Amino acid sequence: MRQDRYALITGATGGLGRVLAARLAQDGWSLALAGRDESRLRDVYPDCTHPLLVGDVSTPEGARSVLQQCQAHYGQPPDALAHCVGSVLVVPLHRTSHEQYRACMRANLDSAFHTLAAWVDALRAAKRPGAAVLVSSAAARIGTPNHEAVAAAKAGLEGLVRAAAATYAAAGIRINAVAPGLMDTPAAAGLIASLSAREAVARQYPLPGIGTPQELAELMAWMLSPAAARVTGQVWSLDAGFSTIRPLVR
Ligand SMILES: NC(=O)c1ccc[n+]([C@@H]2O[C@H](COP(=O)([O-])OP(=O)(O)OC[C@H]3O[C@@H](n4cnc5c(N)ncnc54)[C@H](OP(=O)(O)O)[C@@H]3O)[C@@H](O)[C@H]2O)c1
Repeated sequence: MRQDRYALITGATGGLGRVLAARLAQDGWSLALAGRDESRLRDVYPDCTHPLLVGDVSTPEGARSVLQQCQAHYGQPPDALAHCVGSVLVVPLHRTSHEQYRACMRANLDSAFHTLAAWVDALRAAKRPGAAVLVSSAAARIGTPNHEAVAAAKAGLEGLVRAAAATYAAAGIRINAVAPGLMDTPAAAGLIASLSAREAVARQYPLPGIGTPQELAELMAWMLSPAAARVTGQVWSLDAGFSTIRPLVR
């Protein structure tokens, strides 16, 4: 058993999860990398020295199992949690099937709720402080056409972050979120598949362009670091001004 300061990354197989794993390792974090498919985890991290943990954190049992695997490897709960599980769904409300809606809620809200619950429970039992960062979306912060299901799920995640930050502040547990605009990862691949689609998407942002997971990982690494020791209950946008400013239209 090892007694390192370590971070649990859920959704570690995803575009953001992979980039964040590399970024946190640069900062000296030991890691626990969780995904729901063992072979995908092994494909993404072929020579990894960090433990690869398998579990579906969108269920209470799956989330608890991932935390138990963390404890079994490191002998203590994760000091940091980066919850990168989620999805992007761009379908108008009247065309969203019940299955699409439920899958979107499972990936974006259920997973956040159960993972955060299992993590704070483990920290409280061990009487340890900690820091978590979750991932919302610009679509939760400003009305964006055809994003009803994901906006509802991520708005729920933002409420969860603020309430849990209040509940656990006295225990030294910090809980924050980031809210990106569109990022160039597999989740968004279908939306920017052609050059013309990329250009059209890039024009939607006050600072034109398409975000990268590297930019977001930088902010998330800072939120988990001691430099952010007095930051909790926050949702910080990283969306090129999309949700907050309206430049002059010429
Ligand atoms: N990319 C964007 O444009 C964008 C914009 C705004 C917000 N976001 C948010 O950014 C975060 C990271 O997304 P990404 O861009 O890295 O997407 P991604 O590459 O598709 O990765 C998503 C990750 O979530 C996992 N996942 C999806 N549904 C799940 C479920 N029901 N249960 C458990 N795990 C599940 C996937 O696991 P598998 O490998 O097992 O499928 C994968 O590891 C998400 O919260 C997403 O909503 C992304």
